[in-house]
Amino acid sequence: MSVATFFDSMDYGPAPESDAPARAWLAQHGRKYGLSIGGNWGEPRSGQWFDTADPARGEVLAQIAQADAADVDAAVRAARSAQPGWAKRSGHERARFLYALARLVQKHSRLLAVVETLDNGKPIRETRDIDVPLVARHFYHHAGWAQLAETELEGYEPVGVVGQVIPWNFPLLMLAWKVAPALAMGNTVVLKPAEFTSLSALLFAELCEEAGLPPGVLNIVTGDGTVGELIVKHDDIDKIAFTGSTEVGRLIRETTAGSGKKLTLELGGKSPFVVFDDADLDGAVEGVVDAIWFNQGQVCCAGSRLLLQETIADLVVEKLKTRMETLRVGDPLDKAMDIGAIVAPVQLARIEKLVEQGRQEGAALWQPSWACPTEGCFYPPSLFTNVSPASAVAQEEIFGPVLVAMTFRTPPEAIALANNTRYGLAASVWSENINLALEVAPKLKAGVVWVNCTNQFDAACGFGGYRESGFGREGGAEGLWEYVQPRWERGLPLVAAEKKPVPRTGYEPPLGIDRTAKMYVGGRQARPDSGYSRPVLSPSGKLLAEVGEGNRKDIRNAVEAAHKASGWARQSSHLRAQILYYVAENLEARASEFGNRLRAMTGVSRAKARSELKTSVTRLFTYAAWADKYDGAVHSPPLRGVALAMHEPVGVIGIVCPTEAPLLAFISLVAPAVALGNTVVAVPSSAHPLAATDLYQVLDTSDLPGGVVNIVTGDGDALGRVLAEHDDVDAVWYFGSREGCADVERASTGNLKQTWTNDGRQRDWMNPAQAEGRVVLRHATQVKNLWIPYGE
Ligand code: NAI
Repeated sequence: MSVATFFDSMDYGPAPESDAPARAWLAQHGRKYGLSIGGNWGEPRSGQWFDTADPARGEVLAQIAQADAADVDAAVRAARSAQPGWAKRSGHERARFLYALARLVQKHSRLLAVVETLDNGKPIRETRDIDVPLVARHFYHHAGWAQLAETELEGYEPVGVVGQVIPWNFPLLMLAWKVAPALAMGNTVVLKPAEFTSLSALLFAELCEEAGLPPGVLNIVTGDGTVGELIVKHDDIDKIAFTGSTEVGRLIRETTAGSGKKLTLELGGKSPFVVFDDADLDGAVEGVVDAIWFNQGQVCCAGSRLLLQETIADLVVEKLKTRMETLRVGDPLDKAMDIGAIVAPVQLARIEKLVEQGRQEGAALWQPSWACPTEGCFYPPSLFTNVSPASAVAQEEIFGPVLVAMTFRTPPEAIALANNTRYGLAASVWSENINLALEVAPKLKAGVVWVNCTNQFDAACGFGGYRESGFGREGGAEGLWEYVQPRWERGLPLVAAEKKPVPRTGYEPPLGIDRTAKMYVGGRQARPDSGYSRPVLSPSGKLLAEVGEGNRKDIRNAVEAAHKASGWARQSSHLRAQILYYVAENLEARASEFGNRLRAMTGVSRAKARSELKTSVTRLFTYAAWADKYDGAVHSPPLRGVALAMHEPVGVIGIVCPTEAPLLAFISLVAPAVALGNTVVAVPSSAHPLAATDLYQVLDTSDLPGGVVNIVTGDGDALGRVLAEHDDVDAVWYFGSREGCADVERASTGNLKQTWTNDGRQRDWMNPAQAEGRVVLRHATQVKNLWIPYGE
């Protein structure tokens, strides 16, 4: 056929990318790949292999090693022994390695792109123009962070050995997102690629050899989910970074509970794509193409829920159908294909099942008139209309090229519909009215919001979710914190077992008028639901007072009150600062009373009590100061626009305070949370709660709105568990025993809330380095990256 014929028909001609170099690379390895451990390639000790196939043709490309426990152990040992040497190198030396890797990725970019397309089925246009360039960009960017680490992250050290488990949808890009920051910060890595797509990671391991990366710094073990599980459970791993399904994320949270391992989870999504009636509708339709048909819709942040303002809904759906008719599905190595193959038959079956469910639920399915290739794993771009917001297709992550459309009338309705999901990874907002877009964006519960664009990524900008989309950020300065820890953290002693005073028996003089403290809920004192009280004893066993024994119902009421007070987040930071100053002022005015209380409860000397009180007042000042200073950042990704990294409050935080320093620790935890706009349900020191219950009047006289701070007394461990199980609590901070940490982390899996625990270790609350400032504030916020491109 001649070029002229194509001009006549306006059809696309074939534009195949050669796979010869990739096939030569496969042949060079005899189509069989072992494990890369400690700089050596070896056969799996299990003696087992599995096939990796090209989903577009069904052809087996190679055999991949199935690692077992001994292999994972060997990889962890290699990483452990390489870690001190790697961490000891200067930032500049590590930067040179990362720079070399970036250069090597660029030098072999086409081979990497073709291997990825063969193994995964995604169009070469995407691997060539998006995945691989972004991989290089990640290594360049993090070479920079390695270079700057000594000055910009002074006082921090690497976490140690990191286990990383990645998915199949962006195999090499997810490797880069995880490996680059880990290595830059001086950690060593054991990485497991997804079983459908191991090849590009193995090719990358060869590039590491070419770069002269020291043996053991990056180890690649291949295999199925059991290998992931072995990594997650390994005792000698300090941190797990996972990207994949929410189900597996939940399992990992449960498995790592109480292990002291740090954890970041980047999970699923059902992201809204909101189009207002004043949007550039043609631009929005192209946006939809990028949102849901990029990578066959197998994207955690895919804009899979199209929310259209009612007045333009029919028009947009019509335009969209016209556009869908022109999309091309087929051979991913053809440079003119828009949509390639689904990664594997099992995924295709999953998509088909969910689409069938949608049909049965009464939604209307529309697909283009043309047919997909019948060989290989292909699925056409699909659109559901007449969708009920509660239906499975509107709620479940389909992870395929399937879009569901719904309508709204007003901006508040759009926000409610957009947030009607258990996920919170990303969102797109389309409107030519910048005021409307910027009013809506912060109200969307998602870690990334794109205004008039979609699926934008860059190494300088954090990426990660709210709610069941996981926690932690990858990319930029935000992502670095996940791979470092303050140097002082390593040497902390374990929390000492509590010495319970023996209650005195025999005659006790009466306490005077009974002043049993109630709970503090919604700005009012409330009787405990249980109808039980617990004694508060002095170290010598003398009954000092009684407090309510809080239970599940008290926590429920307190959480409800904390939600009702959510307007606190929208108050000006100036006002929040003023109120904290006022609390400090009122606390100081009652210094001697609080000092006496501390002495009676804990038996500390007068000087120590005075010092705890003085530090508590200072700390309140510190957080009043921070309230209007803990700013976000403006990232400059390589696009004409900005990405605003906004610090948003986490929401309702449950705080279980430690036994020690009962006033200071309470203030050190509650003040930063409220300074940044969170509302709080706090459980004061179980043994010494009176310093907190005495605060009710201080809070009342300081203009703190009811419900911002709620206090439930009782057993910290039991109440911590209840808070962690509560689906309307967004984060739990727990400071207590190691078992208590494990309980809270385990119980948090329900809504995958963030947890911050002390790993059973005792920090020094008097020491500002350990108990004050950014080390705490980071936990009180989550970063939302808001992308705003410039131009018409
Ligand atoms: P998956 O979550 O099972 O796989 C992701 C990675 O975790 C793979 O490397 C896998 O081997 C590993 N893994 C599996 N079980 C594990 C375990 N118990 N412990 C540790 N690691 C384990 O995802 P899968 O089965 O490949 O896809 C199922 C669904 O998950 C998809 O249809 C999609 O909805 C979702 N998914 C979401 C991703 C995202 O980026 N948010 C990525 C991949 C899948």
